[in-house]
Amino acid sequence: MEYHIKHVVILGGGTAGWMSACYLAKNLEGSVAITVVEAPSIPRIGVGEATIPNLHKTFFASLGLREDEWMRACNASFKMGIKFINWRTSGSGEAHPRRWGNSYDAFYHIFGQLPEYERLPLSHYWFARKYRDQTTEAFDYACYKEPPALDANLAPCGQDGKPWTNYAWHFDAQRVADFLKDFAIRKLNVQHREEEMTEALLDERGFITALRTKSGLLLEGDLFMDCSGFRGLLINQAMREPFLDMSDFLLCDRAVATAIPHDDETKGIEPYTSAIAMRAGWAWKIPMPTRFGSGYVYSSRFVSQDQATKDFCQLWNLKPEEAELNHVRFRVGRNRRAWVKNCVSIGLSSCFLEPLESTGIYFITAALYQLVKHFPDNRFDPILLERYNREIETMFDDCRDFIQAHFYFSPRSDTSFWKANKELTLSENIREKIAMYRVGMPVNLPVVDESTYYGNFEAEFRNFWTNSNYYCIFAGLGFLPDHPLPLLTYRNASAEGASPLFEKIKEQQRELLSSLPTNYAYLCQLHGKQ
Ligand code: FDA
Repeated sequence: MEYHIKHVVILGGGTAGWMSACYLAKNLEGSVAITVVEAPSIPRIGVGEATIPNLHKTFFASLGLREDEWMRACNASFKMGIKFINWRTSGSGEAHPRRWGNSYDAFYHIFGQLPEYERLPLSHYWFARKYRDQTTEAFDYACYKEPPALDANLAPCGQDGKPWTNYAWHFDAQRVADFLKDFAIRKLNVQHREEEMTEALLDERGFITALRTKSGLLLEGDLFMDCSGFRGLLINQAMREPFLDMSDFLLCDRAVATAIPHDDETKGIEPYTSAIAMRAGWAWKIPMPTRFGSGYVYSSRFVSQDQATKDFCQLWNLKPEEAELNHVRFRVGRNRRAWVKNCVSIGLSSCFLEPLESTGIYFITAALYQLVKHFPDNRFDPILLERYNREIETMFDDCRDFIQAHFYFSPRSDTSFWKANKELTLSENIREKIAMYRVGMPVNLPVVDESTYYGNFEAEFRNFWTNSNYYCIFAGLGFLPDHPLPLLTYRNASAEGASPLFEKIKEQQRELLSSLPTNYAYLCQLHGKQ
């Protein structure tokens, strides 16, 4: 008790600030006082609408919140994966896939793990068949039951409400922060101060002792969380921790975004995020009830803001002078250390990668999980800090490498942006994975199986992008191994033995198409609109 942290002060009331307040209040069982300071005059970033499947279990359920409850409050919809559109063919931004050979330029990145046969994932049997010209079917449609249901805009749950697949969510970022704010203040006794911080006071050891606000208030604490967004007011400015810029790996540094009304009843609600390749980046499409969010993420080295805005408006037939556009500049990279002395940075103040794989809110959830695991007392044992920092570093660098590989292996080279991506250097970590992929080995096989992957966050965190993720992206982009795993060529019986698994997937696809409700109908019911 004598060493207990008594007061945590959180600077910032965006998604990171309110997620931190709720998670710490709940997981420290109310034994620590928590104050959130936010400046109403400094707006939140206001984007951050697509997520990944662990969010409910690791975050919302741990607060005791029901999925339907927070979904309703946040105008949420379902996401069963990401559809990559036009990442293989040259051209300007088009919302629909262009023709590509006998097919179309689109592929899915589906959540979850692949079925295995004799301890090898189905990806490897698919590739062995393809290599021998025994199949022309695309990887995603051959190996996952989900793609036809996604094409048909069906729900991730049956009529009985039971999920049949892994899914994540799309939601209104402002509503999420407001919902969590309300929950933190009303249910978790979190104190809220609407004040603009002007100065952080440090003691002789360089620890923060208090935050001074514009109105002259002094907020003292033992642990300070920097959730101030890209400004990094505490970690970068007060603690002077350097931000490691990673624009050598990822070229995009800006976005122009808006919300577009949508006729859900006629067109349905797509149960996936789309990532549409553009001339100097890509555009997200995030469907939610009655509208979809979209933004063009681009590189200012290759396109001006005016041209990017024009291209973006052309994509959706918007009039630039009438559209309500949000222009965002972002920094790509991470702090050298996310936690320094008694200051922990979480959210955009800590690290950021362009949202191609929706990692922003995941980084917040994972950082909070790790912070609770390494939660200090006021002796601030350096081992706890170092271990935490190493976890964040590995998490971030691994995601950065995976995202960079999307651009690197895209066959597009029709603009200087796409060409420049091929000239960047890949890290040692991903080069090793690519070498394994080329020789036909599974890349980073999951340590747990499909049924438990999303049930164990510790395992998921350590083994985040697995063989299924690499295969979806690499095979989707047309980058294939040099040859099948040699072992398979010795085992004819096992190559044949996998056939029933492929047939089972076809059967499941047919059954799902004939039995599932539409995503639109399911969401109408969930949101009480029917
Ligand atoms: P945010 O900027 O929202 O909040 C900062 C807070 O600090 C505000 O409340 C502000 O008032 C306060 N503040 C600042 N200075 C202050 C001062 N002096 N005194 C008091 N308060 C002060 N993530 C994801 O998971 N999926 C996605 O699809 C996307 N998409 C996406 C697109 C783009 C273009 C960007 C840039 C980012 C995303 N993200 C994302 C990331 C996501 O938006 C982000 O992780 C969360 O919104 C968290 O933001 P923060 O709370 O860190 O900062």
